[in-house]
Amino acid sequence: MHFRFRHSRPGSGRIRVDKLAITGGARLEGEVRASGAKNATLPILAGALLADSSVTIGNVPHLNDVTTMIALLARMGVEVTVHDGMRVEVNPGSIQHYRAPYELVKTMRASILVLGPLLSRFGEAEVSLPGGCAIGARPVDLHVAGLRAMGADITIEDGFIRARADRLNGVHLVLDIVTVTGTENLMMAATLADGVTVIENAAREPEVVDLADFLNSMGAMVRGAGTNRIEIEGVSSLSGTDYDVMPDRIETGTFLVAAAMTGGRIRVKRTRPSAIEAVLAKLRDAGASVDTGDDWIELDMSCSRPRSVDISTAPYPGFPTDMQAQFTAMNSIADGVATITENVFENRFMHVHELQRMGAKIKIAGHTAVIQGIDRLTAVPVMATDLRASASLVLAGLVADGETLVDRIYHIDRGYECIEEKFQLLGATIKRVV
Ligand code: EPZ
Repeated sequence: MHFRFRHSRPGSGRIRVDKLAITGGARLEGEVRASGAKNATLPILAGALLADSSVTIGNVPHLNDVTTMIALLARMGVEVTVHDGMRVEVNPGSIQHYRAPYELVKTMRASILVLGPLLSRFGEAEVSLPGGCAIGARPVDLHVAGLRAMGADITIEDGFIRARADRLNGVHLVLDIVTVTGTENLMMAATLADGVTVIENAAREPEVVDLADFLNSMGAMVRGAGTNRIEIEGVSSLSGTDYDVMPDRIETGTFLVAAAMTGGRIRVKRTRPSAIEAVLAKLRDAGASVDTGDDWIELDMSCSRPRSVDISTAPYPGFPTDMQAQFTAMNSIADGVATITENVFENRFMHVHELQRMGAKIKIAGHTAVIQGIDRLTAVPVMATDLRASASLVLAGLVADGETLVDRIYHIDRGYECIEEKFQLLGATIKRVV
């Protein structure tokens, strides 16, 4: 299947307000394949702008956020061709302008990831300021401060970041806060800068390492990705490459939690166990037997009820904030009392209100939720508010009495490929209804 994105206009159609109808009770059994990682695909697609010839990216997940990033590149005149099996070919040579408009940025904050590559490769960029979102204000001040330190002339007015630079200079940066896309933006900008850039207090997420490996496959000189100190020696140009993105560790963790909640036994294939050690440790604490191979994870709950587990989110290698909502759902039906503390984002308990409507016994005090596990949740209509919150509501529906209707699941389609088909494969009763 070849089709070309040329200035496509996503969002020009009405968003279908689909729902997921889930009937609880099935014990999940079987095998499921992890898709490519959303949070590696997005920076890598943006990083393709740095190349002086075409780049092919494989194992790309079919997600709304990926479609939005492809549309953003196409809107700038970049030729993007989607081949069979979601291999995406990006040819930045045809780019016509360097502007990321509000209508695209507002649907996907990760659009900010084109800022560093555009500035470093073409010397200019105009990117709409991403607004806040349901889970927090999510400023990009550290992205801007780092680029200014590298010599960029940046103004922020009427909701746009306007940046110019003849050539960025390598500098020694110390990030005040560990920021994943901030680290990625600055790492990409540094690949074509004049001299060596050091990023201290860098994010260590596996997706940052995947991006660094992609950049190095184009001829970049990035060292230390995965540690909190990354060193990038600027080069004069980057060539095309053919690169497959890593598996999605959050999708993997979401399916493992679903199996633990339903007392089931599943194997996730084509994944990377080393990328979610913190999650596997907590699943073992909850009573699951977890076995791993090079590219697979098998969880067996042996028909038992999970034990409550305390969670405190932190940057990698700590417990990932993107798995917090899923463990909140699991603790809601676990045996015991647990506390979950969200340390990364200021408002990431939106799923709690919906879980409470299903009967969950949760009390929130500041950044901490105290959860008293109960035997059974009750199926009621619930509403998704953000990507991972919607995943936690699907998990709750898998164990609730009756049919749960999860509304506004366009949130979930942003980050989970064919979620109902994958759960159906594992024996769940779940279908998409309009
Ligand atoms: C990335 O978001 C992920 N998104 C998020 O995944 C993930 O939750 C988050 O990292 C944390 O792991 C992508 O990779 C596309 P941050 P990002 O910058 O980079 C503050 C999902 O569900 N901060 O690491 O935007 C910020 O407010 C999504 O897949 C500043 O103050 O997160 C937050 O409190 C949700 N100034 C903290 O840092 C800045 O300039 C960490 O945010 C940047 C960040």
